[in-house]
Amino acid sequence: MTNDIDKILFTEEQILKRVKELAQEINEYFGKEPIVAVFVLKGSAFFASDLIRYLDMNVTMEFMTVSSYGAQTISSGKLTIKKDIDTDIAGKNVLIIEDIIDTGITLSTLAKLFRERGAKNLKVVTMLSKPSRREVEFEADFTGFEIPDVFVVGYGLDYADNYRNLPYIASLKEHVYKDKID
Ligand code: PRP
Repeated sequence: MTNDIDKILFTEEQILKRVKELAQEINEYFGKEPIVAVFVLKGSAFFASDLIRYLDMNVTMEFMTVSSYGAQTISSGKLTIKKDIDTDIAGKNVLIIEDIIDTGITLSTLAKLFRERGAKNLKVVTMLSKPSRREVEFEADFTGFEIPDVFVVGYGLDYADNYRNLPYIASLKEHVYKDKID
């Protein structure tokens, strides 16, 4: 598996340092207000789990599975909700936790949905953002790292559901996915 890795972009240590900084920003923003943390699976599983352990307020966990990619490296531009959260978030503080913003379609759609559901205060945190790939205008309230348009895996990020368990974030060698996008 590691033979497919091109370059490590962020090491475990760099990720943890940034996660703690993001948690600090979120703690400062929400103060003692309780929040509902929405894990957008599968990609955010590690980031969200790490992040909420450094949050100081009362946090409840909700899980949502959406899909915009299928087995390809290009977005289909269509969002499917495969699993919804289990709770009514009307009147609550909601923190949507994502691993990456690419085209912006997933988060702009989710943010609209949660606003329609009556979230009192909706904030979005993402570990990574690729601003050059935006198709719809969307920026997270808290962003770990901005990255160029390279295909990244690890720390929850996948290619065809693999590589998520790498402890670092790395680019994938082009030949691994090249045939799929040509
Ligand atoms: C990835 C990622 C975001 C979304 C971002 O999810 O986790 O949810 O794509 O892309 P966008 O900004 O272009 O919408 P994916 O559908 O690959 O599912 P996964 O989290 O299970 O890997």
